[in-house]
This record gives sequence, structure tokens and C-alpha cells, in this order.
Amino acid sequence: MANNLLNGKRGIIFGALNDQSIAWKVAERAHEEGAQFVLTNAPIAMRMGEINGLAEKTGSQIIPADATSVEDLENLVTKSMEILGGKIDFVLHSIGMSPNVRKGKHYTESNYQFYNQTMDVSAISLHKTLATLYKHDAINEWGSVVALTYIAAQRIFPDYNDMADAKSLLESITRSFGYHYGIKNKVRVNTISQSPTVTTAGQGIKGFTEFINFSEQMSPLGNAPAVACADYCISMFSDLTKYVTMQNLFHDGGFSNTGVTQQVIEKFGN
Ligand SMILES: NC(=O)c1ccc[n+]([C@@H]2O[C@H](COP(=O)([O-])OP(=O)(O)OC[C@H]3O[C@@H](n4cnc5c(N)ncnc54)[C@H](O)[C@@H]3O)[C@@H](O)[C@H]2O)c1
Repeated sequence: MANNLLNGKRGIIFGALNDQSIAWKVAERAHEEGAQFVLTNAPIAMRMGEINGLAEKTGSQIIPADATSVEDLENLVTKSMEILGGKIDFVLHSIGMSPNVRKGKHYTESNYQFYNQTMDVSAISLHKTLATLYKHDAINEWGSVVALTYIAAQRIFPDYNDMADAKSLLESITRSFGYHYGIKNKVRVNTISQSPTVTTAGQGIKGFTEFINFSEQMSPLGNAPAVACADYCISMFSDLTKYVTMQNLFHDGGFSNTGVTQQVIEKFGN
């Protein structure tokens, strides 16, 4: 269902690790919709090599960048404009990682070095990316930046651990930078709050399978799949959503506004 929604647009897509990644689906859909873009990921993620297949399929070049390194981001932004032949129209920030989650640290016993890394990789990297783009005046007017988030920013989901704090910060940076970039260049910045999705990052969360089933039954439309999230990202990059900025947009089948469903309540009957 390609509609040329991104015809002539240039983008940077962070976070495609393998074909389960949400960013991978966004890249496939952006290609179908006529965009040209650069793919980027942490140098360590390149070792897996899977991103090469995506680059080939979408006619894209890859520029490795650790999103916590301003130097890497400077290189990414300047090289992307050279490769794509002009300023950028859209950016996807699809990055998350918590060493506390990976090492199984309980939230109440967080390792603070790990905690700082969680914030840097999963939230401050958005500030660094936006600041680099802003400094280089690298985004066209009405350009659109989308970062992916989760509802644990608003409500407690215990196993999400310090990623919840990172997502709160990510959403706050979205509002603050969205204000400044809107005033400066009419650039839009939003987060999309996605349903739990089976990906490498998602599966790192303890009890993820049970949780995904719970969420499915608590969402009137069911969990939103990764491809549908990609469609939503495409609509946010397109000119059809020009006046949407500084928002956290739920893409979750109705989960965020549901108190309980009949399916769940029946589990508590005698
Ligand atoms: N999977 C879910 O259930 C779910 C739900 C809501 C939101 N999200 C968010 O969606 C985004 C994408 O995650 P995903 O589920 O597609 O998993 P994923 O594991 O495929 O993607 C995470 C990406 O972050 C990259 N990354 C980690 N450290 C980095 C660094 N220092 N610099 C650059 N890149 C780095 C990884 O290489 C990987 O490509 C994340 O922000 C995640 O929190 C995921």
C-alpha cells in the first residue's frame, strides 16, 4: 500500500538491528513510500552484519554511530547530508538499552554507573542527536523527528526497571527540544508510545511473554504489531501531520485508556 507519502524526502534511521527491529520495518516502509535515507547503528551492532541486507534492499548507505558520542553524531549528520544531497526531512530514534536490565539488577539496587548508561543511551542520545542536527541546521522546515517510547514512562511496570525513568526523560526532551526546534525551523519532535513488541530489546525484559499476553487482553484492538508502528511513523514523517509536535502519541490498541477488559475480569471469577 505505497502512496508515495515520502517521495523526495531524506532521512536518518537509527536502530535497525535485525528484521524484528521496529526501525527495520520503518526503513522498509520508508523505502516503499519513496524516501531516501541513511541507516545507522552502534558500531558494535554492525558486527552482526544483518543491517547490510537491509541497506542493499533499500538502496541505503550505512554510517556507524554510537548515539552517545557527539563526535560520531557530527560525522553522521554531515556525511548523511553529503550522501543524500541536501538537508534531512525525517529522523527515527529507535534506541533503547539498560545495563541494569541486562544484568538482572533490581530497581531498588540499581548500579548507578549502569543507570547513567541507561539514561545516556536511551534518552540523552535524543538530546545529543537533536542538538547536533540543530547546530548544523540540518533539518528542512516541517521536518519530523520521531522517537519510540513505552507507557512505563507514565505508569509503573516493575520489570521495565530504569528504562521507565529513561523513557520519562526521553518524552520530556521531546517536549523541550520540540519547543525550541519548532520556533527555530518549524521542525516537529514527537514520541510514539508503542505496544510491547517481540524484538531483541523487548525480549530483554523479565516475564516479557506473560506481559505481552496480558497487554493483548487489556487492549480493545489487541497489541499493535511492529509493521503498524512503522505505518504510524511514516504518517508522522509525511506532510499529512504537519501541525503535530511535542506530543507523546499512543500506538497501543487502546491499552493506555483501558481500566479493565471483560476478558481480564473474567479471570478473577470464582
Ligand atoms: N519492543 C518493545 O516492546 C517496545 C515497546 C515500546 C517501545 N520500544 C522502543 O522501540 C525502540 C526500538 O527497540 P526495538 O524493540 O525495535 O528493539 P531492537 O533491539 O531491535 O532496537 C534497539 C536498538 O538500539 C540500538 N542501540 C543500543 N545502543 C546504542 C547506541 N549506543 N547507539 C546507537 N544505537 C544503539 C541497538 O543496536 C538496536 O538496534 C526502543 O527505543 C524501544 O525502547 C520497544
